Amino acid sequence: MALELESRFPRINLGFWPSPIHPLPRLSKELGVEVWAKRDDVSSGLAFGGNKVRKLEWLAADAVAQGCDTLVSIGNIQSNHTRQVAAVAAVLGMRCRLVQEEWTHWEDPVYDKVGNILLSRLMGAETLLEGEGYSTAVKDTWERALEQIRREGGRPYAIPAGASDHPLGGLGYANFADEVATQEGQLDIFFDTVVTATCTGSTQAGMIVGFAAQKRGRRLIGIDTAANESMTRAAVTKIARATAELVGLKHAISDNAIDIDPRFAGPDYGLPDEATITAIRKVASLEAMLTDPVYEGKSMAGLIAMARNGEIPSGSKVLYVHLGGAPALNAYHNAFS
Ligand SMILES: Cc1ncc(COP(=O)(O)O)c(C=O)c1O
Repeated sequence: MALELESRFPRINLGFWPSPIHPLPRLSKELGVEVWAKRDDVSSGLAFGGNKVRKLEWLAADAVAQGCDTLVSIGNIQSNHTRQVAAVAAVLGMRCRLVQEEWTHWEDPVYDKVGNILLSRLMGAETLLEGEGYSTAVKDTWERALEQIRREGGRPYAIPAGASDHPLGGLGYANFADEVATQEGQLDIFFDTVVTATCTGSTQAGMIVGFAAQKRGRRLIGIDTAANESMTRAAVTKIARATAELVGLKHAISDNAIDIDPRFAGPDYGLPDEATITAIRKVASLEAMLTDPVYEGKSMAGLIAMARNGEIPSGSKVLYVHLGGAPALNAYHNAFS
């Protein structure tokens, strides 16, 4: 059953859909399982795109309908999410105010000057460097930024971290599941295993809902990147259940449908370990596919380890969902020296 969300919920098209799916032949040969990539990292012309563009299409329509004039959001200093909010604000002709907290301490004098934050500034966003510590809780820093816009006479639209804990946050990746099913039909393939990075939760939560609406079951593995499995699990569960209700899914989302693997998160949010760095080098050198030390390098490390130890059995058809993140690479140059 297709959810047919595009005909049921307003959305502004901000990407080149469907995002491509292609095989990764050299990586597959090395791992002994067939690995394909779904490239949400190259699915939009807006400032290098990424998974937030897919989510923000639905929030952007809501912001316009409400007559808002400023997008206000929050993330880490090197947040991919806030960079994509800045991009969406630019193309909608809105102002953008971003709270850039220090969710991780990365020792580098240019960490707060290059990569994502540089791009957000180029697109005209105002970046406030205040606050610290990763959490899915509502932050005072974000509420203060919203209040300030109101005091200035503006009409802010509030976008939480990762565009996740928002009533429309799960729609993008619920719709993604329909997109994958259509492409599977065209390619005459079925991906029995899907691997995705997970953090603020709405990417995996949306997929859980979208895949649950399909006839044929598959395994969806979320690789935790927050180094906080219980926080990630709580976020994914809450958003999956709220999204299921919003889209009218016929059955409840069980706890078993929420598969989160904590083993590849590294020492903390935003901090890679040896396996992350090795995975980044491997896919770059085998496939020229660029992944980052905060998210995609961790999900790739998980895929590689599970294919090697048989947890993903040989003969599997694996879809690695690439959610973006490469714009942060320069800010992490010293992880590779
Ligand atoms: C590149 C990248 N991959 C994965 C994620 C995780 O997605 P989510 O926060 O929706 O769980 C994010 C954002 O947090 C991201 O920027």
